[in-house]
Amino acid sequence: MKTPVHIAVTGAAGNISYSLLFRLAAGDLLGPDQPVILHLLEIPPAMKALQGVVMELSDCAAPLLHRVEITDDPYKAFKKADYAFLVGARPRGAGMERKDLLVVNAEIFSVQGKALNEVANRNVKVLVTGNPANTNALIALRNAPDLRPENFSAMSRLDHNRALSQLAEKCGVLSKEVKNVIVWGNHSATQYPDLHHAEVKGANALSVVDYEWFTDEFIPKVQQRGTEIINARGQSSAASAANAAVDQMRDWALGTPEDNWVSMGIPSDGSYGIEQGLVYSFPVRVTNGEISVVKGLDINDFSLRNMRATEAELKEEREIIKNLL
Ligand code: NAI
Repeated sequence: MKTPVHIAVTGAAGNISYSLLFRLAAGDLLGPDQPVILHLLEIPPAMKALQGVVMELSDCAAPLLHRVEITDDPYKAFKKADYAFLVGARPRGAGMERKDLLVVNAEIFSVQGKALNEVANRNVKVLVTGNPANTNALIALRNAPDLRPENFSAMSRLDHNRALSQLAEKCGVLSKEVKNVIVWGNHSATQYPDLHHAEVKGANALSVVDYEWFTDEFIPKVQQRGTEIINARGQSSAASAANAAVDQMRDWALGTPEDNWVSMGIPSDGSYGIEQGLVYSFPVRVTNGEISVVKGLDINDFSLRNMRATEAELKEEREIIKNLL
């Protein structure tokens, strides 16, 4: 058996974590021979609920789960963390503007960035799910100057998986028969799900579906999927978000296949003219734990306009919280 890895999860008593923690305990992240120690962070009012979740984790008698620790102190939760899932965030309350949400969450991620900087494993992989995920990741990484920006990513895998499934359903194939979709930009309604380079059973996706379906149905469907789920369930996506968090972190840790790529929000290296440093979702491949942007894709005017629009939104978000950078 390998030495256990330390996995920190914030917002551990919340909805997403209620799926995520059990997947982690079951070995879905790193496989059946990798034991885990879970470090769960919550705010004081949620500690009682968290104790209930810990009881349930115990009741799974999960063979890989060595220990569970709970705390409301990020410096304890992130100590020696190899993997950190930053899920916890304040939801938008009644009368709260988007700007107010950005500001309250920005403060959470600046504190957590500082704590990670101080106590986490120097190779920690930090995946930010709590919204606004891209800007929260930017704040966390800027507050962790002793870690590399590459230690941080924002979750766009749920959008990527949604795009895969929508295309697969349209074409009547399995999602594993669809490759190379891209989600560019922000995890928000301005994201640009792009099929120009996607393949369905080896054929270019846009030779299989109508261009009008792509522009008029597919793009808004993927962009609005989160809202559609809230309208149906009365709550935001939770199990699919947890699944996406596992998918993104697993690919980051274990690598992507050579003939496919995934979308991840990462600090821009300036590829495709996106401002360097912005946390923006790109098509990426991962080798030995290092993420690299898929370069050299042809980008037409339609795509460029959409990529710029979502970049502009990220710059606006950054402007609102610039005092925390
Ligand atoms: P939730 O409201 O059920 O749970 C959030 C938890 O975070 C709560 O238990 C709360 O007590 C905790 N929390 C708040 N501040 C904290 C802090 N400073 N430290 C530690 N924990 C803290 O929300 P849910 O459904 O689990 O969603 C979590 C976040 O994920 C939300 O911001 C949501 O918008 C976002 N999300 C992101 C997605 C993505 O694709 N990037 C998809 C779905 C949700």
